[in-house]
Amino acid sequence: MVSFFLAFIAVLPCAYSLVAPRQGLVDFFNPTANGGSMLDDAGNGLGEPLNVIVSGLSSPEVLTESGFENYAKAIGFSTECLGIHIGGPQSANLGDGNGFVNQTVELRQDYGNPDVGTCLESLIGGNHLRLFIQNGPEQDSGALFLAVSKEENVSQGHTIVPDGYDIGRDELSAAAIGTTSFGGVTYSTTATNLTDLLAAGSAGVNHDIATDGITTLLTVTVV
Ligand SMILES: *[C@@H]1O[C@H](CO)[C@@H](O)[C@H](O)[C@H]1NC(C)=O
Ligand SMILES: *[C@@H]1O[C@H](CO)[C@@H](O)[C@H](O)[C@H]1NC(C)=O
Ligand SMILES: *[C@@H]1O[C@H](CO)[C@@H](O)[C@H](O)[C@H]1NC(C)=O
Repeated sequence: MVSFFLAFIAVLPCAYSLVAPRQGLVDFFNPTANGGSMLDDAGNGLGEPLNVIVSGLSSPEVLTESGFENYAKAIGFSTECLGIHIGGPQSANLGDGNGFVNQTVELRQDYGNPDVGTCLESLIGGNHLRLFIQNGPEQDSGALFLAVSKEENVSQGHTIVPDGYDIGRDELSAAAIGTTSFGGVTYSTTATNLTDLLAAGSAGVNHDIATDGITTLLTVTVV
């Protein structure tokens, strides 16, 4: 009876961690410290900068695919037009022990209409993002890494506008900072610029578009 009781206690924390939302311990781990990269892999030897990070210290419910999608709708992004995906997936190695993993999801600016607004983005261009989650066994911060870029319209084949990485990052951040809400959830977001993660310039960057090397760290709290 006593040993049964002890075994039950031993199992308890483990079972609890399965059901409780995880609480992050760090903002993120630098992917380059463990074999990863702050550029994703666009499939042509070049990559897009992971220029926005949603901190692992954000509210846990934001750090899941569905939780992030709700947050994204609060800041003007939604799933792609009618589920139609344009272009192939990109992959990233976040140095978390998972190696290269395809983007979890790609979201587009929804022009104020989460249902069909992304169809408009597909036609006229706009901001878009690819999501990668740092959740591998070696560096499990839970942080979300975003490759954000502003695209040309459909006749330009959805290439990136000039300076489109920095513009995309700054437009997303500007929409995110402060208080936002969607689907009955209200978010408070703060931002910090980090300059030591990406190199400024265009070395290795897809479409040969130079960047200022800034990554914006967002911390999102459900209020
Ligand atoms: C990404 O997805 C593509 C298309 O589904 C697949 O061919 C490729 O192997 C995937 N890459 C990774 C790293 O999983
Ligand atoms: C697409 O962009 C190009 C170049 O900016 C412009 O000339 C053209 O009119 C645009 N087409 C549409 C459908 O918006
Ligand atoms: C980050 O840097 C960009 C580009 O200089 C700037 O527009 C933005 O306001 C900065 N954001 C913060 C939070 O400092």
